[in-house]
Amino acid sequence: MISNADVQFSERLQAVYHCPADELPPHLIRYTRLIDSFHTRYGDTGTATIVRAPGRVNLIGEHTDYNGYPVLPMTIDRDIVFIIAPSEGNEINLTNEDPSFGERSFTASRTITPYKQGDWGNYVKAAVQGLIHEGVVEERSAKGFRAVVGGTIPGSAGLSSSSALVVASGLAFLAVNDKSFEPMLLADQLARAERYVGMEGGGMDQAISLLGVAGKALKINFYPLRQESIQLPESAAFVVCNSLVQASKSESGRDAYNLRVVECRVAAALFSSSLSKKLGKPITARLLSDLAPSLLHRTEREVEQDARMALGTQPLSLLEIALRLGEDPSEVRRRLCTLKDGSVVAEPPEGFKLWQRYRHVVSEAARVERAAAALSSGALDEFAALMNESHASCRDDYEVSCDELEALVTIARGHGAIGARLTGAGFGGCTVNIVPVEHVGRFLSGVRRAYYETYRRDHPEKIFVPFRSIDDVLFVCRATKGAGVV
Ligand code: GLA
Repeated sequence: MISNADVQFSERLQAVYHCPADELPPHLIRYTRLIDSFHTRYGDTGTATIVRAPGRVNLIGEHTDYNGYPVLPMTIDRDIVFIIAPSEGNEINLTNEDPSFGERSFTASRTITPYKQGDWGNYVKAAVQGLIHEGVVEERSAKGFRAVVGGTIPGSAGLSSSSALVVASGLAFLAVNDKSFEPMLLADQLARAERYVGMEGGGMDQAISLLGVAGKALKINFYPLRQESIQLPESAAFVVCNSLVQASKSESGRDAYNLRVVECRVAAALFSSSLSKKLGKPITARLLSDLAPSLLHRTEREVEQDARMALGTQPLSLLEIALRLGEDPSEVRRRLCTLKDGSVVAEPPEGFKLWQRYRHVVSEAARVERAAAALSSGALDEFAALMNESHASCRDDYEVSCDELEALVTIARGHGAIGARLTGAGFGGCTVNIVPVEHVGRFLSGVRRAYYETYRRDHPEKIFVPFRSIDDVLFVCRATKGAGVV
């Protein structure tokens, strides 16, 4: 017999996943399986709580967040779910539904020694340590939890599986410690917490996971965090294609990402120092957005010329940067090239590409504004054109694309996508494509054949991540509710 509680739970899931009733059974089956494995693993612990955090796809606004400029992502219906109950003391015990990830346990405290780099448990440690550090949970009275963890976001694919894990862990820790939360504040706190794993990410991933709205994309601004929701169109779908090239936050992708963060920081320092001299008054800039024309009371053209003068159009060595700043190279290394975890970003052999990085960030920020307006008014061709421009800028100026992403974007455009671009940090991972609804079927079968069959077969020298089902790597996005207790 179906109880009232079952009906209520189904209704809640339907609201979370923003799906028609006939698409609910797989979700119900998944949650039932997770709850059963929780009881099998930990016995009867009284009432268990369910928290979830979705992954995201960024529609436009790449590498803008850590420069203080906006992004335009949406949540996807792939998420991390924790079934939790408080533990006796401050121990945290985790069982991943996927046996290849194994079990983890550690004690909640202010300073937690990380596992080896890349370990999934580090993202849980990051959230717990971060919330204690921020004073949200007191170290002395912190309660731990036992959890079964299940995830459906493909890993290392640029869809924010790691940030969703941080967010779900944070929510679990708050829930067992009876703390309520304010999503905006928590998004900021967890963005800071995640830097514990060594990537100097901006705040987009945690923000969209927490603030996401079913059926909508969000334009998110930073410093301070603000959001504006935009209805997704009915006449077009956003489709994700995974290049099957690992875009890992924990390995080479992380180093390449951190280098971009440092290049932007150096560009802001050089540009503000040169402007201070030119204007004869101190101009301080922590972020590139502090040097926006509106804040400087100068025209876009003037600012572009000033930036070109300040940064030069050729890559600069550390020594050249130090000379321009009038500082010792070791001071530049300490002040601008050192990350939060204390590691120092090495000088690239070809020099720091400041002008190119600057040009991407500033043009991308303008595209986000135009794209948000286009999406709001249903001007989908314009939105698509901006996605295409964004991709070119990510490839040429920011240099975060790769052969496989290029192949996927070309294939997508040849099979019905009106806009196609890499999404997330890049260096592999996924593309996002806008496809008129009447072409979605043709798009899915065409891309499947051209990339997942032909391109893969024709490139035996490349390493592609294996996948179980095509629906895990090529799928239409549906924006779900943001993270929370289910
Ligand atoms: C990663 C980071 C985000 C953002 C994107 C690039 O996903 O976590 O903060 O910088 O890359 O747009």
